Amino acid sequence: MRYFIAILVAWLFAGCANQGKKIKYDGEILIEQKCAVCHNLKMPPNTYADEKAPPMMAVVFHLKDFMKITMDDEKFSKFIPFVQDYVINPSRDKSYCDKESLKTYGVMPSQKGNVTKDELEAIASYMYDFYDQQKYLKQMQAKAVFDALPKGERIARKNGCFNCHTLKKKGVGPSFSEISKRDAKEIIDTISNGSHGKWAGFYVMMPAFKSKLTQENIVTLQKWIQTDSKKENTGKAVDMSTQTPWKVKK
Ligand code: HEC
Ligand code: HEC
Repeated sequence: MRYFIAILVAWLFAGCANQGKKIKYDGEILIEQKCAVCHNLKMPPNTYADEKAPPMMAVVFHLKDFMKITMDDEKFSKFIPFVQDYVINPSRDKSYCDKESLKTYGVMPSQKGNVTKDELEAIASYMYDFYDQQKYLKQMQAKAVFDALPKGERIARKNGCFNCHTLKKKGVGPSFSEISKRDAKEIIDTISNGSHGKWAGFYVMMPAFKSKLTQENIVTLQKWIQTDSKKENTGKAVDMSTQTPWKVKK
């Protein structure tokens, strides 16, 4: 009986403590549920012919720009309150959307009844953090570097060859520059069927890739190993001039 009372007291206490706590909302899940029907959430966005609304990345970059947000605490003083208000009470006057876009999309229909203020706080917070200009720039730069690589190296990086091989140094597997001295047919055969024990001093098994890669891609890899992988500049960042695509005309 004494135990029972102790448990009951503990339970009541925990119950009271829980009541004061706010439910924690997950902005990433909520934005998918409540906003993705109209707004494209990808960064960078996919382009569709019949968009119902501007992509969320454009919305957020646009808002940050027009609100002249420079410090992260303005996320709480400006950004979140605006989104919380706009989604429930949208209007032509409040919208930062330019006239042309408003004509194309129309004013956003109020989401009253579909989403609560607390949920919007989580959604807006997620929007602010996820659609980050610096992160986007870095992503685009990384993509530009990747796209500028020879095709063989792109295939190698996408398929995890660099988990075990490097260009010049011995790793879990032999370096590509060592491998390049081997016979072309043997290289193709090893990538297709894998290998073990052929090279002294390597203990891991080279996996077979014939079920993952087309024959054409395997040949591209072999050619890359025997030509481009030996060049000095492979894998180095290429020079890029990246624009700031979210800057809009005022
Ligand atoms: C039924 C379609 C629809 C849904 C659902 C929708 N939106 Fe929109 N939204 C629009 C359209 C259209 C616009 C562009 C016109 C405008 O600015 O009102 C827009 C614009 C916006 C803007 C920009 C306002 C400005 O000043 O530029 C914000 C912020 C926004 N939406 C947030 C959200 C959030 C957050 C959600 C999910 C809770 C959401 N929207 C759900 C259609 C939608
Ligand atoms: C799990 C680690 C691992 C991965 C992933 C891996 N390799 Fe290997 N690779 C090895 C090891 C270890 C050897 C040495 C095998 C041996 O001694 O027989 C090797 C050997 C090779 C050889 C030697 C050819 C020969 O016959 O001498 C080639 C070519 C090669 N790998 C290409 C690749 C390519 C291309 C990829 C990606 C598609 C890849 N490897 C992914 C570990 C790996």
